[in-house]
Amino acid sequence: MEISLIEKIDRLRQQGIDELKHVRSERDAQELKAKYVGRKGLLTHLLKEVGQLDESLRPQIGKAANEFKTFFEGSVDHFLADQRKDLLEKSLREDKVDITLPGRTVGIGAVHPITQILEDVRSFFLRLGFDVHSGPEIETDYYNFEALALPADHPARDMQDTFYLKDSVDSAGAPLLRTHTSPVQIHVMETQRPPIRMIAPGVVYRRDSDISHSPMFHQIEGLMVDRGVSMAHLKGVLTLFLKHLFGEAVRLRFRPSYFPFTEPSAEVDLTCFICEAKGCRVCKGTGWLEIGGCGMVDPVVFGFVNIDPEEFTGFAFGMGIERIAMLKYGIDNIRLFFENDVRFLKQF
Ligand code: DAH
Repeated sequence: MEISLIEKIDRLRQQGIDELKHVRSERDAQELKAKYVGRKGLLTHLLKEVGQLDESLRPQIGKAANEFKTFFEGSVDHFLADQRKDLLEKSLREDKVDITLPGRTVGIGAVHPITQILEDVRSFFLRLGFDVHSGPEIETDYYNFEALALPADHPARDMQDTFYLKDSVDSAGAPLLRTHTSPVQIHVMETQRPPIRMIAPGVVYRRDSDISHSPMFHQIEGLMVDRGVSMAHLKGVLTLFLKHLFGEAVRLRFRPSYFPFTEPSAEVDLTCFICEAKGCRVCKGTGWLEIGGCGMVDPVVFGFVNIDPEEFTGFAFGMGIERIAMLKYGIDNIRLFFENDVRFLKQF
């Protein structure tokens, strides 16, 4: 009987080796190991018979069983190592890496031209001692129109096609998307006493869309209020600013105009820096380019914010950032700024 248990172990070994020959995957090999030499495997099962054996024969069986276990585990591990090596060699053979191919470059972004101009404008006015404000983009009728001396029936409201947010009317009046950055003047004058020196760059909205108008665009507003502020200060600041943007050679022209919130009002033109004022396509042969509006703050506006117009005067101006960018870079279609075509944006 003791012989037959040794034989049984030997047969188990043969059977295991035969089975191992047919194994194809790592998982199958692990399962096979468990089946033969695992805790609940065939060998364990076989060794239950040991209890019936004579004590003196037990060491011999134990030795045979241990040998089988070590041998079989070793065979399976060997098989696994071989299989991993085959796989690695196969992938080295087949998944070739061509190290002579040019690398894939990572696209590097560029700062949007509008952002560049906004940054430039901001840092210029900070150097002149102006504060930077932004104000809300959703405004009430009061800030966008009324406090800027544009009452409900004022014809100048037609100059700005307004987007109204009809669904949410609050007590302060119908909310709307601000049509210009001028309402920021009111917010600042409500909370600050003169002297005030501020700019407000930001997004504005109008119901307008063609190659030179976009329903969303950027403006920069400027305001300076103090004792003795005059039109001369306005001309001085704008001249410095526009020479900074377009070059020392440009000259400015202030054309009398009308805005409800300034009196007197003017439109600012600069000599066409493209043709040096000789007349070209961009300046439509006039030699002049229109760049923005400005004027002395109307005393009526001061009335809304409780600033005494007998004591204080102020100037204000407003300009379109896209217009500045179009002139500066010779771009003739405003939509290019909002399409985000990388080929366009890369150029700046
Ligand atoms: N808010 C005006 C507009 O959008 C521009 C403007 C004109 C602003 C004259 C001003 C100003 O501050 O003084 O058309």
